Amino acid sequence: MNNQLIIFDTTLRDGEQSPGASMTKEEKIRVARQLEKLGVNVIEAGFAAASPGDADAIRSIAEIIQHSTVCSLARANERDVRAAGEAIKPARSGRIHTFIATSPIHMEKKLRMSPDQVVEAAVKAVKLAGEYTADIEFSAEDAVRSDLDFLCRIFEEVIKAGATTINVPDTVGYSIPAPWGETMRQLIARVPNSDKVIWSTHCHNDLGMAVANSLAAVMGGARQVECTINGLGERAGNASLEEVVMAVRTRKDVFNLETRIDATQIVPTSKLVSTITGYPVQPNKAIVGANAFAHESGIHQDGVLKHRETYEIMRAEDVGWSANRLTMGKLSGRNAFKTKLAELGIALDSEEAINAAFARFKELADKKREIFDEDLQALVSEEATTQSSDHYRLVSLKVCSETGETPHAVVVLSVGGEEKSAHADGGGPVDAAFKAIEAIIQSGSELLLYSVNNITSGTDAQGEVTVRISQRERIVNGQGADTDIVIASAKAYLNAFNKLHSRLERVNPQL
Ligand code: KIV
Ligand code: ZN
Repeated sequence: MNNQLIIFDTTLRDGEQSPGASMTKEEKIRVARQLEKLGVNVIEAGFAAASPGDADAIRSIAEIIQHSTVCSLARANERDVRAAGEAIKPARSGRIHTFIATSPIHMEKKLRMSPDQVVEAAVKAVKLAGEYTADIEFSAEDAVRSDLDFLCRIFEEVIKAGATTINVPDTVGYSIPAPWGETMRQLIARVPNSDKVIWSTHCHNDLGMAVANSLAAVMGGARQVECTINGLGERAGNASLEEVVMAVRTRKDVFNLETRIDATQIVPTSKLVSTITGYPVQPNKAIVGANAFAHESGIHQDGVLKHRETYEIMRAEDVGWSANRLTMGKLSGRNAFKTKLAELGIALDSEEAINAAFARFKELADKKREIFDEDLQALVSEEATTQSSDHYRLVSLKVCSETGETPHAVVVLSVGGEEKSAHADGGGPVDAAFKAIEAIIQSGSELLLYSVNNITSGTDAQGEVTVRISQRERIVNGQGADTDIVIASAKAYLNAFNKLHSRLERVNPQL
């Protein structure tokens, strides 16, 4: 066991705390299924006490997932621990992850509790968690700014109370690799019964060192790393799963550890999370960025052609990069479509959903000669985000864009079933379309982000548009895909407004 590194994925909890990255229950289930396929040991599925929706999503994930432990976060109080315990009940293997802050600044200013009270609350929460599961994780929030003696004391007490994993978080992204590794070493050396638990680390990326710090903790004895796909998470994010896993694997000479991750699932998981959350992956991001394996300079290209290892330490195909795979075409039938979805790990829950997705596939195949795996992923994501009950629906969109003329758009929307139209000029066709939509909706919202990515290559590729808007302190993302990027943009904009309207988004539970 000691040469196993446990990968604890918190994309669905800490990752979801990124602004606008909230997911619906169906989206969370899709990500959870893919995480299971990826082989993560633990899926932190959410924070049950945050909202009934969160609890429901965790319960559904717990019912479905067979090969990963399903975990819920809980503050160290009775209500949270009971909510977490109830949510993970259906799991084949369920964990409660309870936490309380241990740094002087958090205890005094946030919790307004004395150190004794904090220890008492932690012990009580761990004992209560034991009524639901034997798999109990305890985290000392803001451990990085906590007193080492106090950490030793609280960890000793929670281990006595039944904790089986002790997590040492760098909540604010403040640590530096060498001292962080030393902290882990010291804790393991000093805390009585440290050999009876798994030591874990959870690092944020505020100084860009989350992965380096996590790996330093592993060298100091941690055998669980908490991380997220694409490094998603609060503020600058968490340690990125793909970087941690591939560092451990590529530098086996240094770590001598194994994970049970199927690395070929890394890129598909990254793409799925990016599509669902609307957080694009920067092209030069390690492992999963579009350029991560591209060699531009002549010297490098020459070297790689002569002998791949001259400039490559990993193989693109080992982490799941493959040339866009031709999936299907215009003549493919419903059965082939259904089989392909299953192969991609996409489970649509009803025959109606399959029929609707198949109809969309046929429409797309009329516009685009070749349909790739990525096209199907986008199509199903859109199917999942567009509901017949949507308040705002695009009825028609006409844009005129001509050299020397001001771009102009005419939009017809169905608003709660009633058709409304507006027209507007803009700096470009997308700008004109957004202005016309806003003229109908009159949201007063602010557009924070607009980005377009081509899903596959070629000028007939679908454009996938992500928008982020804010309205009275709420931030939501919207996505849309189409072979026409103005239509994709309008769909993304309306998707965001529908989320605001349905109030699907939940408030950040830690605020
Ligand atoms: O960053 C943090 O400290 C957390 C804890 C709840 C583990 O997310
Ligand atoms: Zn965190």
